[in-house]
Amino acid sequence: MNQILAVLGSMNIENKTVLVTGSTDGVGRLVARRLADRGARVLIHGRDRTRGEQLLNQIRAANRGSAAFLPADFSSLAEVRRLADAVRQECDRLDILINNAGIGSGGAAGQRETSQDGHELRFAVNYLAGFPTHQGSAAPFDARHAGAHRERLFARPTPDRLR
Ligand SMILES: NC(=O)c1ccc[n+]([C@@H]2O[C@H](COP(=O)([O-])OP(=O)(O)OC[C@H]3O[C@@H](n4cnc5c(N)ncnc54)[C@H](OP(=O)(O)O)[C@@H]3O)[C@@H](O)[C@H]2O)c1
Repeated sequence: MNQILAVLGSMNIENKTVLVTGSTDGVGRLVARRLADRGARVLIHGRDRTRGEQLLNQIRAANRGSAAFLPADFSSLAEVRRLADAVRQECDRLDILINNAGIGSGGAAGQRETSQDGHELRFAVNYLAGFPTHQGSAAPFDARHAGAHRERLFARPTPDRLR
């Protein structure tokens, strides 16, 4: 977490467009809020419309960066692709993609859960969803502006990175 904020803190974020997947809660929400405070345009993502719109309203009330809320359930690859389309409609160029959405090991103990496409749920949400998000958003993604930070920001969060 501190590492993510340190990397972002070293970048000029003002007026950059950043998609933070899984930003209706937890670390993603905090990162989205910090980015907006520094003048970024933040694309908030998650499933929960109430929490998404709460964050949207907070960012608008702070009157610094701007935001839009793009809901999508990553347990469906069709919804992931729809998110990529929505991103393309929302901006000409995506400067930064933070693949943060994910689910931990909790849930129905011992039960195998599956996604809407029949994949193991955590594999679908935590890993498979990241590929169409990245590829689908790649057209407007301008790597020149992300520079050396690109790989680090694209990397999946791990406990080490979240410390
Ligand atoms: N916290 C930790 O100790 C820890 C450790 C290692 C890795 N991680 C990883 O770091 C990331 C953030 O963790 P966190 O603790 O901040 O998680 P969190 O508070 O549970 O938030 C998870 C975010 O992902 C979204 N999300 C979950 N399932 C989704 C789905 N099916 N479709 C779309 N969005 C979905 C949630 O949105 P909605 O609720 O709106 O659907 C929420 O915005 C996750 O990928 C997690 O696996 C966390």
